[in-house]
Amino acid sequence: MNEKPIEMLDLRGEHHVLREEILAAIGSLLEAGQFVLGEPVKRFEREVADYLGVKHAIGVSSGTDALWLALRAVGTGPGDEVITPTYSFFAVSEAIERCGATPVFVDVDPRTFLLDDEQVLAAIGPRTKAVVPVHLYGLAVPLDRIRTVLKEREIALIEDAAQAIGADWKGEKVGSIGDLAAFSFYPTKNLGCCGDGGLVTTGRDDLAEEIRVLRDHGQTGKYEHGRFGWNCRLDAFQAAVLSIKLPSLDRRNEARRRIAAVYSEKLRDLPLRLPEIPESSTTVWHQYAVRVADRDSLATHLGSRGIASAIHYPRCLHEQPAYLEKQGPFPVAEQAAREVLCLPVHPGLTREDALRVSHAIREWVESANRPVATPERAGGGVRQ
Ligand SMILES: Cc1ncc(COP(=O)(O)O)c(C=O)c1O
Repeated sequence: MNEKPIEMLDLRGEHHVLREEILAAIGSLLEAGQFVLGEPVKRFEREVADYLGVKHAIGVSSGTDALWLALRAVGTGPGDEVITPTYSFFAVSEAIERCGATPVFVDVDPRTFLLDDEQVLAAIGPRTKAVVPVHLYGLAVPLDRIRTVLKEREIALIEDAAQAIGADWKGEKVGSIGDLAAFSFYPTKNLGCCGDGGLVTTGRDDLAEEIRVLRDHGQTGKYEHGRFGWNCRLDAFQAAVLSIKLPSLDRRNEARRRIAAVYSEKLRDLPLRLPEIPESSTTVWHQYAVRVADRDSLATHLGSRGIASAIHYPRCLHEQPAYLEKQGPFPVAEQAAREVLCLPVHPGLTREDALRVSHAIREWVESANRPVATPERAGGGVRQ
């Protein structure tokens, strides 16, 4: 097998074309002696706020810190509950716990893996401080049912938009839908920097001010600490890299769409569950996640053809060993954790690469009578 390997990511390729620009930016920062916050961060904050259509964008040190800051800004603390889907990355659990609050997990919609709004409505109680929907795999969560209820009941809606920059719900970009949103610029994200970085967005002046105070040691004036904040500042180099990469984000998301379209067309007759996209939402294909009953065998087969795949996520949040008291069961999420396999979908791939992946999957299906992933209720208003 001499064909070139198909990887899940191509970070070297992505940055190779920007190398001279990035090196020049480092040079300018060294000349200016500007390393933390400052003009490069302000500039990126303006640019990304424009891109997202939000009033305030505040650069912070990571997506995890962005979630914690957003929760703290609405006053989340001990005794409060925060509702979030159990099928997600662990950062949201950590951010809630670090506020001293309690996560209340809910199951996910079997068609989209996104939070099930019926379950959110059922989980709301007198101690609910916030709901954190996760725009998982790049897909914007439809929020029709819960947004109005949360507003009426004065419960904060905090979007976890770490995986979905550029996606929208009914024309509103993720990050501009809730009271606040958290983004991650971890290098593997659709917009990634060259280290850790994150962002909080909000339309509200009071919350924006609170985030700015909290991200810098709770300083309300020079060496006047009005709150217990933390050091969650974005550094100038990461901001400069993000300013260089933001203008090409839509183009790179479009390249992901083209790869995803090949999979959706070429795999549609096979016994795999393909991603389903609600009519009201778009996705930026952070991941292309299929569900398959025997995913280890498929992953091994792809590996033998030089094709990488990945499992996001093998375990739900409520199943993590860090939780000694178990919530659940959440059957849909638990089944997803057993069946999901993510295929390569990064912008460095070619149509030929996607055809090769599709062909290898067909080969695997045809090599045996493969069982279909467990069928779910058919959904109206969902397209593939
Ligand atoms: C859904 C989700 N939320 C939060 C985070 C945390 O972001 P970070 O790694 O920048 O702290 C990530 C990324 O890793 C994520 O995928």
